[in-house]
Amino acid sequence: MRPPVCLFKAILGLAVFTAVVITAVSLFTARLETSRRPVAVQVQLREIPTVRPPSREQQRVFEKDTIKFSPPNCTARTKLALTKTHKTGGTTLMQIFHRFAYLHNLSVVLPTATHPGRMNLFYLKGLTPQNYLPPQHGRYDMLIYHTKYHKDNYTKLLGKEAKFITILREPLSHLKSQFNFFNLAEKFKLTGQQPLFQFLQNPGLYDHGRTGSHGTRSPMSKDLGMPRTTLEDIGKKMETLKPGEPVKAEVLATIHSFVARISKEMDLVMITDYYDESLVMLKRLMCWELRDILYFKMLSFSYESKGDNIPPWLVEKHRKWDIVDYHLYEHFNRTFWQKAYQLGEDFRAETDNFKDIHLQVLKHCTVDNPRNKGVLVISESRWNPSFTVTYEFCTLLKYGQLCYMSLLYDRNLRSRRKPNPGLKSKLKEHSPHCALCERLVPDCTMCVKISQDCTLNEYITHLFFEKQLSHFDSSLSKNRRTINGQSQEEFNADGSS
Ligand SMILES: *[C@@H]1O[C@H](CO)[C@@H](O)[C@H](O)[C@H]1NC(C)=O
Ligand SMILES: *[C@@H]1O[C@H](CO)[C@@H](O)[C@H](O)[C@H]1NC(C)=O
Ligand SMILES: *[C@@H]1O[C@H](CO)[C@@H](O)[C@H](O)[C@H]1NC(C)=O
Ligand SMILES: *[C@@H]1O[C@H](CO)[C@@H](O)[C@H](O)[C@H]1NC(C)=O
Repeated sequence: MRPPVCLFKAILGLAVFTAVVITAVSLFTARLETSRRPVAVQVQLREIPTVRPPSREQQRVFEKDTIKFSPPNCTARTKLALTKTHKTGGTTLMQIFHRFAYLHNLSVVLPTATHPGRMNLFYLKGLTPQNYLPPQHGRYDMLIYHTKYHKDNYTKLLGKEAKFITILREPLSHLKSQFNFFNLAEKFKLTGQQPLFQFLQNPGLYDHGRTGSHGTRSPMSKDLGMPRTTLEDIGKKMETLKPGEPVKAEVLATIHSFVARISKEMDLVMITDYYDESLVMLKRLMCWELRDILYFKMLSFSYESKGDNIPPWLVEKHRKWDIVDYHLYEHFNRTFWQKAYQLGEDFRAETDNFKDIHLQVLKHCTVDNPRNKGVLVISESRWNPSFTVTYEFCTLLKYGQLCYMSLLYDRNLRSRRKPNPGLKSKLKEHSPHCALCERLVPDCTMCVKISQDCTLNEYITHLFFEKQLSHFDSSLSKNRRTINGQSQEEFNADGSS
């Protein structure tokens, strides 16, 4: 071979090799790009720990493997009772139920009161007939406001087929949330630099057996019906323990039988710390669709003490003070994961699919999304049929809790042909809600109440769902962008969650 040919071949070989390498590298990078998860969304998302994030491999397997949706062999359930424990993410859950009830025309057990704090009426005044409206359509489907759990009262109202659901949160994180939300540092007159640390050193010094949502001694167990006297009795026995002395057998026996009873009576105990996993379990229990469990985070604050690392010796003090809740939580967190484990790979993959779609929907429905133009089409997967997310659906996702309550109240009165409380006030004349209502709806006497509880945008969306307005009208309304959902203050209004 002559030298120039040899040189030429060598150069050609090198060029081909370089081209191959460059192509391979760029293909690989492109692949990395496309497999990247959706970028951060500008919504207040509380950090929820992912236990085992899906590996890229698993992601790909379930994406290409089974795209076809196979509907479950069951019909959607409509009857449930939520025992809405305080400061556990229950408000977000209640909003999921509100939306389901609203869209499916269900009958919710509604407080008779119409003041902003009405959500706490059953909790404070008892679940008694004078406190709730007679049912719409002659039956009740859902009980979702704060109550103290009482099995027989629930069954009497809803019937035997109702599913019982509650939600629990890791006790220390629960305490931090209470501290922040109810401003316990001030209520307990804790003046130090680190009020939570100061409190944990001797909780009994500050919390003298407060009741209700502000109580720090096993508040979740109290919401679930553990009598106050039993809790006090346990508290006294715990206080007499010397350091290192084991918990008395009778105390443990009382706790265990309480936990066993709740375990037997509840159909689902959700765990705040594993919110999305819990929702997928809820979806399966109720035989609902994926779109039914989508949510827009409510009442999630970032506050200083959230990230505080409490030293172990103070955690021990808290365990002693809050002993029933620790046992309760640990039992249900354990059984939750046992169940998740039994449900296997399909459950895990379904949860990942839900998280993924949930992010897409949040992103689409975020106010920042310019005018939420167009609809988002969610593609079919093994766990969901294809569906669209419209502007109106986004609005429902973000409805305020009081707005849902007022609209449901209005429906209840209408369905029973009861006159709505016609507030003949000046307010009516100035309310754009009432102006719209009077033009479109025959009987408008609730409009003042509704205009206090719903933004105009929410009300327009309601009229669309009630078929009083067309999509065209509702999406071109000039008012639509003037009121963007609600502010946090609105949720704070009645101090509940
Ligand atoms: C669905 O369930 C019903 C009642 O349990 C049963 O009769 C039917 O065969 C089931 N269908 C399928 C496709 O599994
Ligand atoms: C709600 O249900 C009742 C009774 O089932 C029915 O009469 C009414 O028309 C329904 N309303 C809507 C808006 O679907
Ligand atoms: C259960 O119902 C009874 C009778 O209406 C009532 O007196 C009691 O307060 C209720 N219990 C709870 C925990 O709501
Ligand atoms: C809940 O249980 C899981 C599985 O046993 C465990 O890994 C996790 O640490 C527990 N979570 C909390 C907050 O205790």
